[in-house]
Order: sequence, then C-alpha cells, then structure tokens
Amino acid sequence: MNRVFRNRDVVPFPSLQGFLSRVSLLPKGITLQHKVPTGLDRKETEVYRQLDPERLPKHIAIIMDGNGRWAKRRHMPRVAGHRAGVAAVRSTVETAARIGIHALTLYAFSEENWKKRPKSEVDFLMRLLSRYLKAEVPTLNKNNIRLEYIGRQHELPEDVQERMAWARHSTAQNTGTVLTLALNYSARSELVDAFRSMVNSVSQNGGLEHLRIDEDTVARHLYTSHLPDPDLVVRTSGEMRLSNFLLWQLAYAEIYVTPTLWPDFRGLHLLEGIAEYQKRERRYGGLNGDSHAHSGPSGEMRASMADLAVELRTNGTNSEDDSDSENTDSGNREKLHHSKPHASKVTRKH
Ligand code: FPP
Repeated sequence: MNRVFRNRDVVPFPSLQGFLSRVSLLPKGITLQHKVPTGLDRKETEVYRQLDPERLPKHIAIIMDGNGRWAKRRHMPRVAGHRAGVAAVRSTVETAARIGIHALTLYAFSEENWKKRPKSEVDFLMRLLSRYLKAEVPTLNKNNIRLEYIGRQHELPEDVQERMAWARHSTAQNTGTVLTLALNYSARSELVDAFRSMVNSVSQNGGLEHLRIDEDTVARHLYTSHLPDPDLVVRTSGEMRLSNFLLWQLAYAEIYVTPTLWPDFRGLHLLEGIAEYQKRERRYGGLNGDSHAHSGPSGEMRASMADLAVELRTNGTNSEDDSDSENTDSGNREKLHHSKPHASKVTRKH
C-alpha cells in the first residue's frame, strides 16, 4: 500500500516529488502531499490535492452566465437567478483567495446588458450589486481581498458609484487576491478609451509627434493596467463566446467552458477548471511563468512544432503537396471562407 508522507515544513510539491523520484531520493511507494490551505471543504480538498500549487494561474477571469436559465428551469423570474448568483460569487471569491490566486476578474455587467435588458432587471442588478458590496466588505477584509473595478463606471447610477468607491476604499489596504468586478464593461469600449487616453496623455506631454504606440503602451492605458493578463478564462453555462470581454488581455489565455449554470457554480468548480488548465499546460506548453504573454511559443510548444515538422517530413509531405495543401495559412483561409456558416444557425445573445 502507498504511504503518504505529511510534512508541513518541507514544501512538498508534486514537482519536488517528481524530482526526488528521478534522483532516487524518494523510496518507492511514498507520496509527498502538499499543504492544503485552511478553509477548503472535503471535496475542494480532494481536487486541490491533485493540483500543482506552483503552477496555479496568476489571474483567472470568469464570464458568469446562465442566471436566467437557472431561474427559468425553476419557473422563477430571471432576477431570482441573479440573486442566487451572489452565493456563487461568494464561494468562488473565497476559494480563489484561500488558494492564493493573485487576481480574479468577474464579468458582472456588460455595456450590452445595460442597453438591451429591461430597465426593471437592470435596476435589480444595480441594487443587488450595492447590497453585495455593503454586505461583503467585512468578508473581503477578513480574506485580505482588494476590490477593483473595470468598465465605464461614470455611466452607472450615482449612488452605486458612491457605494463602489466606498468598498474599494475600505479594502484598499489588503495585499492578497485582487478581485476586479467588470461593471458596464465592454472590451471594445476599453480599447477606444485606451486610444483616447494615449492621445490625451501625449497632448499634455509635448504633443502628438511624441506619440509612440506599441503593445506595452496600449496595455498601460487599458482599464486592467493593475493586472497581469489572465492565464485562464472560465465561462459558465456552456456558451462558447468571449462576449466582448477582455479581448486584448485574453490573447494567450486558456479557455475553460463548463455546462454548470452560474448560480450552481462554487469554489469546487473553480478548482476543477484549474485542474483542467494544468493538464492543458502539460500538453501544449506553458503559459505559466512571466514569459508567456508576448514571447512566442514556449520551449515545449517549440518542441511540439519541431516534432510536427519532422513528422510531416518523414510522412513524405513535399512541396508539391504544400502548394494545394489545406495546411497552409491561405489554404485555411480558403477553407474558412467556403465553409458553411454553422454559427449563423445558432441563436446568439451577447
Ligand atoms: C448572466 O446571466 C449574468 C449577468 C448578466 C449578471 C451577473 C450577476 C450576478 C452573478 C449576480 C451579482 C454579481 C455581483 C458581483 C454581486 P444571464 O442573465 O445572461 O443568464 P441567461 O443567459 O441564462 O439568460
């Protein structure tokens, strides 16, 4: 029978386990187990034990979706789904903080929601947000969570803006997880605002001839300049869209879609998403570490590309094949151009 070695002081992570096994320092049959953060329940603990705590995503972004369907299935009004969604927010935020996720960003309210939903639903969401902020500040402080916002806040009702400012101020001293709520947010508007802000700042600093635009400059003028790019984006309720969420920042993120409707989502589901993220990283090369964002393919990815190139060569793929191959970029573009637009059959919301 396998023995489990528990030692809270040794920092016994799975990667260490692999290393010790390889250099034969770890007797066969002994499994090192990393320390489980306090506060996780039994099921969360089970999933957490499978994770490598050294490779947790630094920033997780979540598109919370499915509140309306959750309510509809129960023959309840849509707003009941939003109300139930608060418990999901609470559980997810607490678990993220407990396991030491650096940043969690929740898409709570898009610009499109604002324009396209009945006023009564929008008003309800605003009241719900206000109540959430008032009730949650003590828990955020207890968990060392700092609150931030992204989106066009100035277009929100004034009393909501005041409550938001109060909650941000009340948690500003916290040094743990940064919880960012996307409120009245649209990625395209964010880019428009970033370009305006770039032009504004040079016009106050020597004029347009000093305008130098590169990726770093754009990133510094986005609402998310306080955050690293997300490593993982989670969407609930099975929809496969980004819905105008963090379009610039998600360029290299892993996407995890779960059929779970948002009001049923809990910290456990977040851990399952992280487990899936860690599997994919092992398969496709890391987005972890600091070098992922703009440095091209990782070592592992480059190795896979090299393997693929060898495979193509050994399978006798020659330049003649290449000329009309579907593997070329132009071949793919052609294929996409002529393929049937399946998506047009799907009823889409934003
Ligand atoms: C999407 O579900 C969800 C929203 C538009 C609102 C999200 C709000 C919450 C989770 C509750 C409060 C949040 C905070 C931060 C206090 P949907 O209505 O589009 O669902 P459907 O696609 O099933 O109709």
